[in-house]
Amino acid sequence: MYVLGIESSCDETAAAVVTADQATGSRAILANTIYSQTEEHRPFGGVVPEIAARAHLEKIDIVVGKALEDANLDLSQIDVVAATCGPGLIGGVIVGATFAKTISMSTGIPFIAINHIAAHALSIRLTEDVNFPYLLLLASGGHCQLCLVRNVDNFEVIGKTIDDSVGESFDKVAKLLGYGYPGGPIIEKMSEEGDDASFQLPRPLCQRGSCDFSFSGLKTAVRIATEKCRTEQDKINLGASFQRTVTGVLSYKMEQAIIFSRRSGANPTAAVIAGGVAANRPIRIALQSVCDRHELRFCAPPTAICTDNGAMIAWMGVEKARIQQFSNIRFRPRPRWPLDEL
Ligand code: KG4
Ligand code: ZN
Repeated sequence: MYVLGIESSCDETAAAVVTADQATGSRAILANTIYSQTEEHRPFGGVVPEIAARAHLEKIDIVVGKALEDANLDLSQIDVVAATCGPGLIGGVIVGATFAKTISMSTGIPFIAINHIAAHALSIRLTEDVNFPYLLLLASGGHCQLCLVRNVDNFEVIGKTIDDSVGESFDKVAKLLGYGYPGGPIIEKMSEEGDDASFQLPRPLCQRGSCDFSFSGLKTAVRIATEKCRTEQDKINLGASFQRTVTGVLSYKMEQAIIFSRRSGANPTAAVIAGGVAANRPIRIALQSVCDRHELRFCAPPTAICTDNGAMIAWMGVEKARIQQFSNIRFRPRPRWPLDEL
């Protein structure tokens, strides 16, 4: 089976072709094309929805064409076209969804509407053999939640943020420190030169076994601490201390989720991190050691699959096509689409 996947819910216009053979279990990414809008949004320190929608519109046909060319396929060889239909910035979502529906209507190729969060959650199964149920920490710019992935369309949310997402807090702290956008990769790089124990920052909601997250208090603490920064090195130390604190929070939450899921009898086969923040090496290393302590397998997708991409959308298309879950062409793109409304 060849599946074309289209992603346009935030600031990447992406398309990919994934092939999968259910009989042998083999699967491969034949093309994974991404046009990142980072440069367009950088002057504003964050994603501007109208700029994003226009950029998707300008690039969508080029990106999809390039994916087919890289895969050395033409549309007549594609079995399914899958596109992110939410949640996300609605202008961009409409561009990708409409493009996919148009392909479907003009060629007869079945269409599948993909939930972007669910696609992050299942992306690990594209590159690793991970069976259901597994624990997932989704840590991206738009989302921060812990869930038990029971099946392709069955996600039990066991904790979520009550304010900012982790990625958002990286971006806001980078902005406070004057580092630019996107914040996560910059803070990770700068932290290599910093003393991560020089600032003591709060670890919100890290008591009493809660699996919910809160990052706005931590961000405020960083803002107050910037007033104590006299040198460039002080700022680097503050960024490193922030990253260490976030790493501690995510480790604590993962540990609580492992304990909670085992107590409730779920018995997860693995713990997985997905989303843009999963690209962060110190966070991966810390989560690996939590899982080692609890004798649970830990997995993270390759970094190219962590941040937004078309391959994870195409892969979810494969998973849904296998269980015959095709979508109606009238499916309406959804700016909000929580996992419990799948
Ligand atoms: O999954 P993603 O590409 O888009 C959303 O669906 O939101 O995640 C983007 C987020 C941004 O906030 C970015 O700062 C963060 O992921 N991020 C990182 C790293 N790379 C990207 N955060 C921490 N460390 C990184 N290396
Ligand atoms: Zn995402």
